[in-house]
Amino acid sequence: MTDLSSLAGRVRDTGRGLAAGAAKTAVLAGVAGAAGLVYGSWEKNQFGVRHEKLAILPEGAAPFRILHLSDIHFIPGQTKKAEWLRSLTEHEPDLVVNTGDNLSHRDAIDPLLDALRPLLEYPGVFVPGSNDYFAPRLKSPLGYFAGPSRQRKAPPKLDWPKLRSGFGMAGWVDLSNRNQSLVFNRMRFDFSGMDDPHLDLERFTGWPQGSASSTAPSLRIGVVHAPYQRALDVLTEAGSELILAGHTHGGQVCIPGYGALVSNCDLPTWRARGLHDWESKGHTAPVNVSAGIGTSRFAPYRIACRPEAVVLDLLPKG
Ligand SMILES: [Fe+2]
Repeated sequence: MTDLSSLAGRVRDTGRGLAAGAAKTAVLAGVAGAAGLVYGSWEKNQFGVRHEKLAILPEGAAPFRILHLSDIHFIPGQTKKAEWLRSLTEHEPDLVVNTGDNLSHRDAIDPLLDALRPLLEYPGVFVPGSNDYFAPRLKSPLGYFAGPSRQRKAPPKLDWPKLRSGFGMAGWVDLSNRNQSLVFNRMRFDFSGMDDPHLDLERFTGWPQGSASSTAPSLRIGVVHAPYQRALDVLTEAGSELILAGHTHGGQVCIPGYGALVSNCDLPTWRARGLHDWESKGHTAPVNVSAGIGTSRFAPYRIACRPEAVVLDLLPKG
């Protein structure tokens, strides 16, 4: 029969063992977490270019190259990002499309415009994201995984009119709740853009007046920051032949071999990055969702989700 003192001793030993095991697990989790953050802050600067091809132009049209930028989230002092942005002219785009969230700091506008100066020499169109209107606020680093959220208290405002003017002075076209036709290579491109659905600011304004009755070769492109399903539905049902969006950061922290855990909106996570077809009420449109170039200022890491610009080569059908 086991005496009580030896039983108590074994319980004490088991307790010590469990405490030591828990401490070891906590230390290992801490080390793994710290290593993840170190890696993630390295990966956030591994900028790359994703190349896509789409045969959606009318037959006989000249190939057309779009450079899609999104979610730059610029902060003064980001020299590596600035140098990489300047280098993107090597892709010689016919058009730059910027789908918003350019800023992550109230003093970022001048250095961002400086970094984009070479690309501002090219034709461009843009829509804003919520981070062009409001500065980021310190939140839990895990807040990115809490799903789409609306701020309860208004965060500090950014000088979006100044950035919009900077783009506009260079000739880039503001598509916030606006539509406009532009002609390139003797072909008309009809754009319809929306303000940011993440702030419930979006309004579809249709296509440029008269464009529906024209028989000249043309292409309809929808542009929006956050790819909420309601925005994609509206643009798809209206006959967009291509939609460009950003906002998701591709999930920002992904599981290797699986992908994004969040899209920061109601878009399914498997669509958080890449070129996919969107269908609504019998209409279909290819949607390119950029994984973006930057990160949230207060969650400055990426894992299995490198920052990207996207070169979309549009080719004639057939
Ligand atoms: Fe963003």
